[in-house]
Amino acid sequence: MTASNSCSDFVQFFRSWVSHPMRVAAIAPSSDSLARLMTQDIDALHGPVIELGPGTGVFTRALLARGVRECDLTLVEFGSEFVEALRSRFPTARVVQMDAAHLVQAELFADREVGAVVSGLPLLSMSPRKVAGIMSGAFTYLRPGGAFYQFTYGPRCPVPRPILDRLGLKAVHVGGTVRNLPPAAVYRISRRKSLVLSPDRLKYRNTQPVIDVSALAGDRGG
Ligand SMILES: C[S@@+](CC[C@H](N)C(=O)[O-])C[C@H]1O[C@@H](n2cnc3c(N)ncnc32)[C@H](O)[C@@H]1O
Repeated sequence: MTASNSCSDFVQFFRSWVSHPMRVAAIAPSSDSLARLMTQDIDALHGPVIELGPGTGVFTRALLARGVRECDLTLVEFGSEFVEALRSRFPTARVVQMDAAHLVQAELFADREVGAVVSGLPLLSMSPRKVAGIMSGAFTYLRPGGAFYQFTYGPRCPVPRPILDRLGLKAVHVGGTVRNLPPAAVYRISRRKSLVLSPDRLKYRNTQPVIDVSALAGDRGG
């Protein structure tokens, strides 16, 4: 990444924020420091990987640096202003222009095979119903042991506790960085292990309750 690319990314990002402040929700792309924190647990063995809201591709580059193959990346971006640049920058990645709230309907993968989801989505600007739809959709693709990585500028995990509980998920604070504008924290969200009674023995297994997202309707504001 050259200095002039980085400068043009900033300009493009800032313009997008001016036009769509709620969707872009940041005045500048994330820093390399935040990108490293978001991707530090991910490597080639996690492929395929889904990235939600890649913007100009800061986390995408970090995933490639971690050894994830470009052809193992599915980039889900709503903003048409970012989609074209992503397609030319990452030609062998799959770039899907869509609202991440419709992940299930998109049938991106036939089965639970995804090792990690990396999200740059502005969850704090979204309604609980939308956040629940995104989380529920992502976990239909994540294999057992797979995790969803999310950053936030806020003081706690941006996925509200009732949504985590209803989906059988837990959030762990991975770390934070002040080398970002503004400073940010990263959470790793994964399935809780549930005790399940089977006919012959007691065993732990991953479960994912079905969630009625309509029960979570209502806006939280930004
Ligand atoms: C805060 S920016 C993060 C961009 C990039 N990941 C970064 O960290 O620099 C949010 C990104 O999510 C995208 N986005 C917002 N809502 C979305 C949605 N519902 N579905 C897909 N992408 C969305 C925006 O267009 C933007 O690219």
